[in-house]
Amino acid sequence: MIGIFNLRPPITQAPLAGGITTPELVATVSNAGALGSLGAGYMTPHELRSAIKKIKSLTNKPFNINLFIPEKTNLEYDLSPMKELLATLWQELSDTPFEISSFSPPSFDKQVQVILEENIPIFSFTFGIPSPSLIELFKQQNILVCGTATTPEEAEQLEKVGVDAIVCQGQEAGGHRGNFSSYDPLYSLATLLMLTREKVKTPLIAAGGIMNGKSSAATFLLGACAAQLRTAFLTTTESDASPPPIKKLF
Ligand SMILES: Cc1cc2nc3c(=O)[nH]c(=O)nc-3n(C[C@H](O)[C@H](O)[C@H](O)COP(=O)(O)O)c2cc1C
Repeated sequence: MIGIFNLRPPITQAPLAGGITTPELVATVSNAGALGSLGAGYMTPHELRSAIKKIKSLTNKPFNINLFIPEKTNLEYDLSPMKELLATLWQELSDTPFEISSFSPPSFDKQVQVILEENIPIFSFTFGIPSPSLIELFKQQNILVCGTATTPEEAEQLEKVGVDAIVCQGQEAGGHRGNFSSYDPLYSLATLLMLTREKVKTPLIAAGGIMNGKSSAATFLLGACAAQLRTAFLTTTESDASPPPIKKLF
């Protein structure tokens, strides 16, 4: 079977919405035998289609497209204290003016339509679970489906809807974790892998703080079949990470 189960090296480059995971990065990683992933959560359907076409033009190896599952509740938060804090920090660190641009999320349904039409090899998601009927639709098109869990219980829910692999995201992944239940004990990656391996049979991909071969190999001993790395790819030529707008660090 393509992709996740026979990667050489058994590495997936983590999806990262909002740039960085350019089509060039995704294709280069896949061409090297690992799995490139496009973080497409913020992309419009048009941007997503162009990115997929670009990836297809650069590789004939399997690659992964990653989306955010839309939240069911629409909570209203007062963001002004956080904006004030960010503005203060920004002014301390940068010479450029502080700005927060407004953003409305693209339509998940339209993003999915593009993925189905483009018939990509692997689809992964974070922040929830798609409906079983949508997962069935992907399966009918032989698209491998991969969910993200931060607790063994979330992994069990993912297994129930029939995903092909589960990204186990330990607390080392930092602030942008895909927790989708009210229970979040911030398991370390090692604990999460050990507890999850006992509860589910689905292949596990380890994520969070993995930077090299040694730490990847350690996760395989704990039950993962591949390791997902994000930070390790930020400084590659193909990533479009911007230089930090920082005038002083200390
Ligand atoms: C800024 C940021 C954006 C991220 N975007 C996504 C995303 O779009 N989809 C996703 O599945 N994971 C996303 N993640 C999680 C990472 O891809 C990855 O699983 C985890 O952070 C491990 O990264 P590390 O190797 O740097 O520890 C994001 C993480 C960060 C910090």
